[in-house]
Amino acid sequence: MKTKLFTITLIVLLSQTIFSQQKSLAPTPPMGFMTWNYFGLNIHENDIKTLTDAMVEAGLRDLGFTYIFIDDGWQGGRDNQNNIIPDPKKFPSGMKALVDYVHAKGMKIGIYSDAAPLTCGGYTASLNFEEQDAKTFAAWGFDYLKYDYCGAPADWQTAIARYEKMGKALKNSGRDIAFGICEWGDRSPWLWAKKTGGQLWRTTADVRDKWTCGVEAKVPSDLHGHGAGILDITNINAPLAPYAGPNGWNDPDMLVVGLYGKKGAPSSDLGGTGCTDTEYQSQMSLWCLMASPLMITCDVRNMNDATRRILTNKEIIDINQDTLGKQAERKVKNDVWQIFTKPLANGDVALGILNVTDKTQTAEVDLAALGITGKTIAHDLWNKNTFKVKGKIKTTIASHETKVYRLSK
Ligand code: GLA
Repeated sequence: MKTKLFTITLIVLLSQTIFSQQKSLAPTPPMGFMTWNYFGLNIHENDIKTLTDAMVEAGLRDLGFTYIFIDDGWQGGRDNQNNIIPDPKKFPSGMKALVDYVHAKGMKIGIYSDAAPLTCGGYTASLNFEEQDAKTFAAWGFDYLKYDYCGAPADWQTAIARYEKMGKALKNSGRDIAFGICEWGDRSPWLWAKKTGGQLWRTTADVRDKWTCGVEAKVPSDLHGHGAGILDITNINAPLAPYAGPNGWNDPDMLVVGLYGKKGAPSSDLGGTGCTDTEYQSQMSLWCLMASPLMITCDVRNMNDATRRILTNKEIIDINQDTLGKQAERKVKNDVWQIFTKPLANGDVALGILNVTDKTQTAEVDLAALGITGKTIAHDLWNKNTFKVKGKIKTTIASHETKVYRLSK
């Protein structure tokens, strides 16, 4: 009797472990390259291959940028058995061969669809074909699905039902496929996305290559049509910190770092004329502090030194990928400063100070007032200097710059 009970307990425990391992598709925020803001709908398998190679060569894969995400524009309709197929001109070798190429380079690969008949770009999407498409994505070997919401009804119920349907289909697909929910924060997905099987959910409208549109948004939809910049998106995403954690991340959209207002790119419309390197560095800092998925969208095959420096800062990436999985809390927001604190797994604390004004400012930050005690050493993650702290950090911060410190005992 005892042996039987022991065996049953063991089986239950083992299956729970296997189950939780299967479910753990995003223990830390996913990182990679997403095609959308550089290529728009003009994607081609050769680009995916050369980008994969470039990610490896630049050391980005080894820093954790392990995904290549194919966004909208890959679809070529359905065959006579209703199987979704890639556009044969853009993907002449077929998806399986491409996926194998990416996997052979030690990277993962993501694909895109939409919870309506057509995607945002007007291509074939997955409504009413959820099971079939999920199985196709699994058979091709995809590791991630970004699921958009263009052309779908506005109400919450339908959105939840449609995401649930695809979430279930992915679970039944026979492959572990992470699920990225993309309805732009309009229906507060931080409240329900995890239950539909999602590991991350967009919290705002699409990012544009700019600092701010000047709109004081109260809810994500206030930003629609204005061209959301880095600061606007930060202001929506920061208060959502309590909802983020391992396997469920707020996604404030892609990094525009290194795009420099690229003409014709989706990120260039609605005033997306580009940012300064200081602003790009701020985006990287803020996204890392906010435990955001990190999706590069500039041409990693031709990065300049500034872009490379921003994207390959291991110490700042470590803050993003910290296993405690806390999104930084924004402790201060006024006309001059935004100050963030992020507790880390080893007891250290990351401190971010953003100067939102148009001129250089001197900051004097009292750590105890932010609830930080017992930390005597500060390491500046961009300037790389380490110094002793006695209660306060005093420093100058340029316009739109974010300084990030790792504080330890
Ligand atoms: C929406 C999404 C973008 C991108 C495009 C593709 O706008 O929010 O991230 O996927 O669709 O058409």
